[in-house]
Amino acid sequence: MRTSREVRLASRPQGWPTAENFELVEVDVPAPDPGQIVVRNLFMSVDPYMRGRMNDVKSYVPPFQVGAALDGGAVGEVVGSTSDAVKVGDVVLHGLGWREYAVLNAAHAKVLDPNAAPLSAYLGVLGMPGLTAYAGLLAVGEYKDGETVFVSGAAGAVGSLVGQFAKLRGSKRVIGSAGSAEKVKHLVEDLGFDAAFNYKDAPVAEQLAAAAPDGIDVYFDNVGGDHREAAIGALNVHGRAVLCGAISHYNDVDAAPGPRNLMQAIGKRLTLRGLLVRDHESLAPQFVTEVGGWLREARLVVEETVVEGIENAPAAFLGMLRGENTGKMLVKL
Ligand SMILES: NC(=O)c1ccc[n+]([C@@H]2O[C@H](COP(=O)([O-])OP(=O)(O)OC[C@H]3O[C@@H](n4cnc5c(N)ncnc54)[C@H](OP(=O)(O)O)[C@@H]3O)[C@@H](O)[C@H]2O)c1
Repeated sequence: MRTSREVRLASRPQGWPTAENFELVEVDVPAPDPGQIVVRNLFMSVDPYMRGRMNDVKSYVPPFQVGAALDGGAVGEVVGSTSDAVKVGDVVLHGLGWREYAVLNAAHAKVLDPNAAPLSAYLGVLGMPGLTAYAGLLAVGEYKDGETVFVSGAAGAVGSLVGQFAKLRGSKRVIGSAGSAEKVKHLVEDLGFDAAFNYKDAPVAEQLAAAAPDGIDVYFDNVGGDHREAAIGALNVHGRAVLCGAISHYNDVDAAPGPRNLMQAIGKRLTLRGLLVRDHESLAPQFVTEVGGWLREARLVVEETVVEGIENAPAAFLGMLRGENTGKMLVKL
């Protein structure tokens, strides 16, 4: 019988998670039931939302269970199948990452075209983070050609695409913030941002005001906290903030204070709107056509930070929370 290693939640973190919150366990891979497939995972994703799932709280995705394997996006090759729809040799996208082999119903797997793009792209630019950036900018942020866009977490999976999508769609000025001098350089020199700053260098409000002398029209918020407050201050009349994430608070033990300047939303008639990518599946065909086209024409720069081995998946996740990634953080299995 085949064996597989999987990462389980050993305990729930208080504040910042550590390696001790995870456990690597070897298990037997069961034979597939009728209609099931066995997948040898090739890449798995580590994402910020998984931090929320380590807490025992009700949210839009159920919490991970102590003693059980974690899960999340993965791409792999089918090595066993009792399904007519999905064959051995197919490459599939599915939701049972954090393990070397996954056994699942074929109906829960999406067969991919391995020749259309590198497999890792389906966990990044052509996957959930890509659609988040696309739907957030266009549907939630109602971005229009020629507007000025500010995105936080700009060197990460979602943020790096938000900025590039805005430029490709004719933005007048795209500004990004990130957590190191190298990332700031990357945003301007490699990704084509008009301006970028390191949020650790000086107050965000000051740096944003200098980078956006005419204000901003859309703020794509991956970070929350002082970034959100600074953006409310910089948004122009009828500006929109896309509330995508708040990673500066994911390890907080106490509730974070709200933006102190929310009153400005009245006078400036701002829209602050939450985004959940799964609400925007209907945009997926348009997203694949437009972003797939940009990829084929080599008009998008796609960065990945790839860590090797299931045993290093917790370190990849913890590293992503600390900003060790440029572009999408992935684990190659
Ligand atoms: N709503 C949705 O449907 C949806 C879907 C996908 C993602 N998201 C959210 O989108 C955001 C980005 O996700 P992603 O997958 O693209 O992750 P990512 O940006 O690739 O990785 C996380 C990044 O967050 C930054 N970070 C960590 N702590 C920070 C802090 N205190 N202040 C500012 N930045 C900090 C780090 O970069 P630095 O080096 O720059 O600090 C790190 O690289 C997250 O908030 C995530 O929860 C939401």
